[in-house]
This record gives sequence, C-alpha cells and structure tokens, in this order.
Amino acid sequence: MYSEVSKDRPCVFGKMFCRKVRTTRRRDILISPSCWQYAILLNRFNYSFELEKDLHLKGYHTLFQGSLPYYPKSMKCYLSRTPDRMPSERHQIGILKKYYLLNAASLLPVLALELRDGEKVLDLCSAPGGKSIALLQCAYPGYLHCNEHDSLRLRWLRQTLESFIPQPLVKVIKVSELDGREMGDAQPEMFDKVLVDAPCSNDRSWLFSSDSQKAACRISQRRNLPVLQVELLRSAIKALRPGGLLVYSTCTLSKAENQDVISEILNSYTNIMPVDIKEMARTCSQDFTFAPTGQECGLLVIPDKGKAWGPMYVAKLKKSWTT
Ligand SMILES: C[S@@+](CC[C@H](N)C(=O)[O-])C[C@H]1O[C@@H](n2cnc3c(N)ncnc32)[C@H](O)[C@@H]1O
Repeated sequence: MYSEVSKDRPCVFGKMFCRKVRTTRRRDILISPSCWQYAILLNRFNYSFELEKDLHLKGYHTLFQGSLPYYPKSMKCYLSRTPDRMPSERHQIGILKKYYLLNAASLLPVLALELRDGEKVLDLCSAPGGKSIALLQCAYPGYLHCNEHDSLRLRWLRQTLESFIPQPLVKVIKVSELDGREMGDAQPEMFDKVLVDAPCSNDRSWLFSSDSQKAACRISQRRNLPVLQVELLRSAIKALRPGGLLVYSTCTLSKAENQDVISEILNSYTNIMPVDIKEMARTCSQDFTFAPTGQECGLLVIPDKGKAWGPMYVAKLKKSWTT
C-alpha cells in the first residue's frame, strides 16, 4: 500500500537522479505531522466575511469548487496547497465558533449522504462531532440523532455541538450514549439517512504513536474491529427506512475494515444495494488522490504530496423498497 511515488519531470542532472530526488514516500506523509494539511470548514451559523476575505488573500481555495452533483452552496470549505494550520478557536460559552479544522476528506462521507432539508438523519458514531457539524452546514434536517458510546467522547461531542450550533437548531438534535449495535432495535426504520463513521485502526494516530505497549494493544484490538464494524452496519440497516441511504466510512487503509466489511454486508442482504460513487471520485480528483478499491460503491482517499488528505474510505449503500 505504501508505494513510492516518483514525479518524472525533465531535469538538468539526468532522469534517474531526478526521479530519486523527487521521490516521496506516502508513508512519510501519513506519519509526519509536519506534512499534514488542515481544511477550514466555515460555520454558516456565525459567518465572517472578514475571515473569508483573509483566506482568499492567504491563497486558500474552496474545496470541490461546486463541481459535485450534490454540493450545497451553504457548505464552504477552504484549503491551501501547503501544510498551513490556522489556530483552533477557544471554546467560549455562548459564543459560536467561526470555523472547524478538519481533514478535507472527512467531507466526502457527509456529501455522499446527500442530506436534504427536513430529513431524519442518524450519525451512529458521532464524537467528536466533526461530521455532524458538516451535515448541518449542508441542510436543515427535521431530526438529527447523534450517538456516541464512549462517555468521555460524548462530552466532547456535546461541547462541539454547543460551540457551532445555535440554540433553536439544537432542538432538532438528540444526543444519546447507546452502543450503536443496539440502535436498530431501539429505532427501527426511523431514518432517511444513516452515517456509520466507524471506529477503526485510524492509521494517522496509530502509526504515529511511538509507545510500543500501546501499539501491541492496538494490534490486538485491530483484529476485532471488522466484527464490530459489521455489527454496527447491521444495526444501521435496521434503523434505516426502506429507500433510505447508508454511508459507511473509516480513516484506515485496511482492506479488512473497508472493502471486506462492505462485501460481507452486500453478500448477506438482498435488500441492500451498492450505489455507484465513482462520479464523486472523478469530480474531486484535483483535490484528492484515490487508490482503487475494486468496488463501484467504495472509494479510498490516500495521502499524497501536497494533498495530504485521508486516509478515508467511503462506501454508499441503499436499502431497497422490497425485502
Ligand atoms: C471515527 S470516530 C467518529 C468520528 C466522528 N464521526 C467525527 O466526524 O467527528 C468513531 C467513534 O465511534 C465510537 N464508538 C466505538 N464503538 C462504538 C459503538 N459500539 N457504538 C457507538 N459508537 C462507538 C468511538 O468512541 C469514536 O468516537
């Protein structure tokens, strides 16, 4: 997976030498925080014209440039080609933040969900809340259910919502602390859209850690992740109404946690259909580098030089009307 990338351009020192000099290892990009890039998602609930003007002056450009088939105008995300990082805003009670820093590829699962005003949406594994915030930049759902199993992370999620979302809108948001595997039985066929941004190996933080004890523990946990991921998806499918859309995402390159999980779901349900997502990859190939997944319904963003976004796997499924 961690292939060498060579930029083959003319060079006065000869072709072979230049290839070597320009060679960048994807693995280095993945594990070196100095290479990481941070996109800026503007908060439409506390819009600042000054901030947007400043970003233009600093050379930031908007992501996707409105070229995706589903791209709500209310969602504004800026990025720069260099690893610049804006400071995070401080949490202040009663004051909404103006922007959220994120890995730009995190917006792909949100956009794949194609949220429309009035829809009922479930974010099954929600903390710290980045994708919930992004969903609310796209549309005004009739009901948003944010679930998170870990109580500490649940507090973080509540704080994120409080920092970005105005009080009147908070009324349409329910926050719960269920094991996501129980949600399907608790709320069967309740939702038009479900996002499963699953717990996964999280390659950036796992590879970056130098603590060998932690690493050993993570490797053993890693073996159990595909089982948990399939169970979360089964629960999400129960919670989804017929005709509804389901998006699964992870931030790992692991095939066992990505394509294999989705294949298992597709092989075991007759009412779950893959939705072709290749068009999405085509329209944002300027901003992201994709690796082949062998699936029409799945795409994988891999970190690259100057486009240090991802890893992010996204799969899109639909529950058919017939069982
Ligand atoms: C990848 S993170 C979610 C990131 C979040 N969607 C965002 O964009 O900010 C996965 C989350 O799933 C939570 N989680 C783990 N097991 C869970 C379970 N059984 N049910 C629900 N959530 C779970 C983890 O605590 C973690 O916060």
